[in-house]
Amino acid sequence: MYVEELDLPENAIKALLARGIKKLFPPQELAIKRGLLRYKNLVVCSPTASGKTLIAEIGALKHILDLGGKVLYLTPLRALANEKYYAFTQYEKLGIKTALSTGDYDSDDPWLGDYDWIITTNEKADSLLRHRAKWLRYVTLIIADEIHLIRDPKRGPTLEMVLAKLRKVNSSLQILALSATIRNAKEVAEWLKAELVKTDWRPVVLKEGVYFSGEILFNDNSRIVISEPYSNPLDNLVVDCLSNKGQVLVFASTRGNTVSYARRLADKVRRFLTREDSRYLVEKAREILSLEKNRITENLAEYMQKGVAFHHAGLSHRTRKIIEDAFREAKLKVVCATPTLAAGVNLPARRVIIASYRRYNPELGYFEPIPVLEYKQMAGRAGRPQYDKYGEAVLIARTADEMDYLLENYIHAKPERISSQMASERILRTHILASIASDFASNKHELQQILRFTFYAHQFAVEDLVEIVDDSIRYLHRDNLVFIRNGEIKATPLGRRISQLYIDIETATTIIKGLKRREKATPFAYLHLIALTPDIPKLHIRRRELEKYEKILDLRAGELFVEEPMGEEEYRVFLSSIKTAKLLEDWINEVSDDQIIISYDVGPGDIYAITQTAEWLVYSASELAKELGLYSHVANLLELRQRVKYGVKSELLEIIKIKGIGRVRARILYENGYRSLEDLSRASVSDLSRLPLIGPRLAKSIKEFLEGLREEVSIVIEREIRIEDYF
Ligand SMILES: Nc1ncnc2c1ncn2[C@@H]1O[C@H](COP(=O)(O)OP(=O)(O)OP(=O)(O)O)[C@@H](O)[C@H]1O
Ligand SMILES: [Mg+2]
Repeated sequence: MYVEELDLPENAIKALLARGIKKLFPPQELAIKRGLLRYKNLVVCSPTASGKTLIAEIGALKHILDLGGKVLYLTPLRALANEKYYAFTQYEKLGIKTALSTGDYDSDDPWLGDYDWIITTNEKADSLLRHRAKWLRYVTLIIADEIHLIRDPKRGPTLEMVLAKLRKVNSSLQILALSATIRNAKEVAEWLKAELVKTDWRPVVLKEGVYFSGEILFNDNSRIVISEPYSNPLDNLVVDCLSNKGQVLVFASTRGNTVSYARRLADKVRRFLTREDSRYLVEKAREILSLEKNRITENLAEYMQKGVAFHHAGLSHRTRKIIEDAFREAKLKVVCATPTLAAGVNLPARRVIIASYRRYNPELGYFEPIPVLEYKQMAGRAGRPQYDKYGEAVLIARTADEMDYLLENYIHAKPERISSQMASERILRTHILASIASDFASNKHELQQILRFTFYAHQFAVEDLVEIVDDSIRYLHRDNLVFIRNGEIKATPLGRRISQLYIDIETATTIIKGLKRREKATPFAYLHLIALTPDIPKLHIRRRELEKYEKILDLRAGELFVEEPMGEEEYRVFLSSIKTAKLLEDWINEVSDDQIIISYDVGPGDIYAITQTAEWLVYSASELAKELGLYSHVANLLELRQRVKYGVKSELLEIIKIKGIGRVRARILYENGYRSLEDLSRASVSDLSRLPLIGPRLAKSIKEFLEGLREEVSIVIEREIRIEDYF
């Protein structure tokens, strides 16, 4: 089927042709046949790289241009949301307005109402529903990419609830659910009342194989011999692919391994760089260091200049983007990543090497084999049609037995069935409160109605949920989050606020209980309180650190809102919250990033993730304090929020707000006598240029910023005078 034959407006067809898309891929053609353009729900289950995104795009074009509808595109990962956003903005020339929305969970983002095509994460969509964003009513097409996420214990229920609520609000909504790895696709299709589009077709051959003793044996029984100039199989597999002008993506099981692989490979990869590659990479390495300079990025910059990068969630989003772009530009030859790059993304990897099929499970305390589904997602990053004519995915075996094991359990295995994770009471409770607070349901019956739309109800019968719903309501009532009047369940103002703040109920109750215990507290005590909640990432305590944190606890127990628990397990969790609070305290006391990285064994991206979540929770605590009339805490928490946001002591809060000034430079200004905006407005550009790390450009931009502020102030004053005149 040709693009010209599609029942789409002419300008849409032209736009597709201009992208070089003439003929539909078989899964796309099948999707059309099954009713994509007749607004039928579809579950598309077809291999990686088979063009599922274009199915979504065709559907979106139809809705926006023919129906005047609105499209919501849900993705599990921010990296994927970014990639899709940049891809979809190409339709702007058709007058289609595309928006990316992944941040701030305490807003209904009314500005999104002006957009036709909104790309977002599942969690953001959930928070928009909680705020009853008005424009959600106008959504006519919802695309759930990587729908297999439903099996994720933490994030799956959110996706289920988002889909359930949207279906309840708008029964004529079209749903497209996409995945390469669902075994029980028929069941998922029945749940969504969808047609199933299932194929095994892939535009580019993906050979999956196992390396053992100098050879790769592939699933089609072909073999290739890998020369062995080095002692390590990984090195040989990488160099072999580079010698044939391919690029390589290596998946490692831990962040530490991504770094050690990159280190080991750097000197072997260097010789594959052209002079132009090197020039580009030197520049990019410099760019990364100018964004964030610390031990980790220094290593990264060194390896990058040799053509290899590591990529994991410990790096900032901007750094990760630079790496992804350099790989796409074929300047970087090898990327060693954790599964952060495992789903959905299009990268030019001819060979994907899964260096280890085991992953450490901290809850169980041992290594376990990864699910087949994850293996298939990683493998599927190889051989993407816009980059390569074929792809190879390789697992590494150390023995012949292991080779048999890998062939049977990964290469020839099918991905696992997907099952709902809604049964967790804690998670369900939070979602039930959200449904009540945002008026999606006002009695048991309506709650059950929403839940009836979940995959859980489809798989396990809604009757199982009845009891959980009753228990949840009792729990919410006991904690004063809902009340019941004339047979209607309503959220209390507190319940509503908790739901909008997008925090776990347990987080809220922990914070509230704490704040009620004392009138005032130290920043450390507040930070410790939020570190106790289930919403903050946990820092593990290593055995050798036990004594250190026990001492800190001894010294500072008097400050805390909460006493240490008796149980051994609880005590350990408590200590780890002391560690988190200590990291945050260092951060707001201006301890350098490098020092934090060393002291807590974290990456810069972790510092970012922890401080961002902490800022959110401190803000939530201040909102809860307001709601409950605990006013003695409010000012403290508001100031602490700013300190956590910028990582500074109180005295820098005024000047840190200047654009382009981070905490290091703000400190330099302060130590040189510029302690307020007023001090700075008295300084000249040349005064400021002389300071270390400031320089003429920044000095000028500081002055411009201050000028801008002055203008804003004078506009306000002018307006005020006019209004006075009027009266
Ligand atoms: N009809 C077509 N003609 C030419 N190229 C196409 C066509 N359809 C899709 N492509 C290209 O094929 C690639 C398919 O990537 P896409 O992201 O859609 O894969 P996917 O099916 O979503 O895989 P994954 O499961 O890995 O997410 C894209 O580069 C896209 O531009
Ligand atoms: Mg995809």
